[in-house]
Amino acid sequence: MTRENKWIDIGEVAKAWVVEAAQQIKQALEGTFNVEAKSNPDDLVTDVDRSTERFFYEKVTSHFPKHHFLGEEGTAEKLDRLDGTVWIIDPIDGTMNFVHSQYHFAISVGVFHDGVGKVGIIYDVMNDEMFYAVQGEGAYVRDTKLKTITTSSVNESVVGVNARWLVEQRAPFRGELERLVRDVRGVRSFGSAALELAYVAAGRLDGYVSLKLSPWDYAAGKVLLAEVGGTITTLQGEELSLLEPSTLLAANSSLHSAIVDQYIKGE
Ligand code: IPD
Ligand code: CA
Ligand code: CA
Ligand code: CA
Repeated sequence: MTRENKWIDIGEVAKAWVVEAAQQIKQALEGTFNVEAKSNPDDLVTDVDRSTERFFYEKVTSHFPKHHFLGEEGTAEKLDRLDGTVWIIDPIDGTMNFVHSQYHFAISVGVFHDGVGKVGIIYDVMNDEMFYAVQGEGAYVRDTKLKTITTSSVNESVVGVNARWLVEQRAPFRGELERLVRDVRGVRSFGSAALELAYVAAGRLDGYVSLKLSPWDYAAGKVLLAEVGGTITTLQGEELSLLEPSTLLAANSSLHSAIVDQYIKGE
């Protein structure tokens, strides 16, 4: 590839694959598909999740044979390092929404090189809304450049939280999160971590909190947030591993510090 920033070209290729995959997902919605439970009865997977991941795996391995692949549905070997170029893909983020409402789910594609986020794409399939970023080139929703996200105080913030965490007796940080939920202006739960991260990057949510997310849920969102001055870490403010599940906190930087310092660490 000849351009100075080869990630722009890789990003364009990836966007075209995402649009193609989305068309196949929409077609699948017109027919019937198989739904199964994975780790528990609420953890759903469909044959559309699996075929979409397989689509990306075949595209990546045939176009970029030296690149690595990490996807939710286990199409590729499990990775234990982030050396070289790694595509981190959630073929359908928000499978429960996909199954129950056929709406509000996303394809999430993150491309990392030696652990550094290069390309992030989050595509809301039914809304035809593409969130997109290349490192150093800014973040966009459709053709509109996203602005740097502004600061917000806790009591003027709207934060994405999954209400399940607050009723789970053994959930870590339950008391801390209860206090946060009381203090913020409002909480929202959209059922797609990738879209919720895109919304933080677009300033539609001030923050997003989760007690357990995997690399494919947040890889693309991490690239988007870096371009708009957002902060994304574990709930305790540590760097995300990109290989293992962890807690997660994404927000504008002032809200992020306030949540870590005043709620999680309780200073
Ligand atoms: C899930 C969604 C959901 C979040 C879960 C994720 P999936 O991803 O992002 O919003 O709360 O933790 O596992 O399974 O639909 O790809
Ligand atoms: Ca899943
Ligand atoms: Ca997911
Ligand atoms: Ca998924």
